[in-house]
Amino acid sequence: MARPKIALIGAGQIGGTLAHLAAIKELGDVVLFDLNDGMAQGKALDLAESGPSEGFDGSFKGTADYADIAGADVCIVTAGVPRKPGMSRDDLLGINLKVMKSVGEGIKAHAPDAFVICITNPLDAMVWALQKFSGLPTNKVVGMAGVLDSARFRHFLSVEFNVSMRDVTAFVLGGHGDTMVPSVRYSTVGGIPLPDLVDMGWTSQEKLDAIVQRTRDGGAEIVGLLKTGSAFYAPATSAIEMAEAYLRDQKRVLPCAAYCDGEIGVKGMYVGVPTVIGANGVEKVIDIKLNKEEQVMFDKSVDAVKGLVDACKQIDSSLA
Ligand code: APR
Repeated sequence: MARPKIALIGAGQIGGTLAHLAAIKELGDVVLFDLNDGMAQGKALDLAESGPSEGFDGSFKGTADYADIAGADVCIVTAGVPRKPGMSRDDLLGINLKVMKSVGEGIKAHAPDAFVICITNPLDAMVWALQKFSGLPTNKVVGMAGVLDSARFRHFLSVEFNVSMRDVTAFVLGGHGDTMVPSVRYSTVGGIPLPDLVDMGWTSQEKLDAIVQRTRDGGAEIVGLLKTGSAFYAPATSAIEMAEAYLRDQKRVLPCAAYCDGEIGVKGMYVGVPTVIGANGVEKVIDIKLNKEEQVMFDKSVDAVKGLVDACKQIDSSLA
């Protein structure tokens, strides 16, 4: 059977890391697409030359021609601009919306059967627009944010509790922005919910609150340190986890920016929710029950995403 074809739209910091991870995990042949002349071609050649030492099979192609993504099984979209210190993800909306239009049209024309994972920010609005521009079914277009935000939460928790990250589960709901909702009640260490760990005296409420806030600010913390761009290793790993779940039909339970049709009270929008990802793309949005306090935070986050979606409609009337 032919290897799966993975098209990476955007061959910048995240795109290059995605290509490297896809190769090491032998997920398939990789096409790197970028409008920046030579960037995709250079990274493709460099990665191919790492194959003999690493011992992976698979081909790499760099291109600026959408025809080369023809028949892709997975498209991961990072095309656009990242933020600089002092910018919020929302500041990228105008410029990245135009990019989503050209990417959506390219995917529609050449890879209409692909599972599409969007990473470009502001994520929840960009994945919504990408689905509209591409016309692909909503279960085949999803945004990467929850896996990353949850990974940040898990990392901070594992350091606080001094336990393996493997034994920390966590998930983050809502939009991929300042209003995201790291769910304390649904996050555990070895299956023990975080509020119980506070009751047991293993950590304090103050420390837990600080970790929740650090998770919300996780992207900005890295932008502040890097100064020239945003995070790329963890975002790439998170998207690869989603791509692998699809390609290998793993039925993984992963928080993603998924299209909601009434789940958790959200209709006709993309927002971070727990999903099941397998060979049919987003196979299920898990309609979890929130308590009053969580619902207030989640609704505020959904409102923030709605504001961005409305801004997209104002900029591009074809989306209205
Ligand atoms: N078509 C294809 N590629 C494009 C287009 C376009 N219309 N516009 C920009 N690009 C390419 C750029 O040439 C660049 O190589 O997208 C790439 C983006 O790479 P980086 O600038 O390195 O950004 P990166 O860190 O990879 O982040 C990409 O993901 O997390 C988000 O906020 C982040 O929106 C940003 C995106």
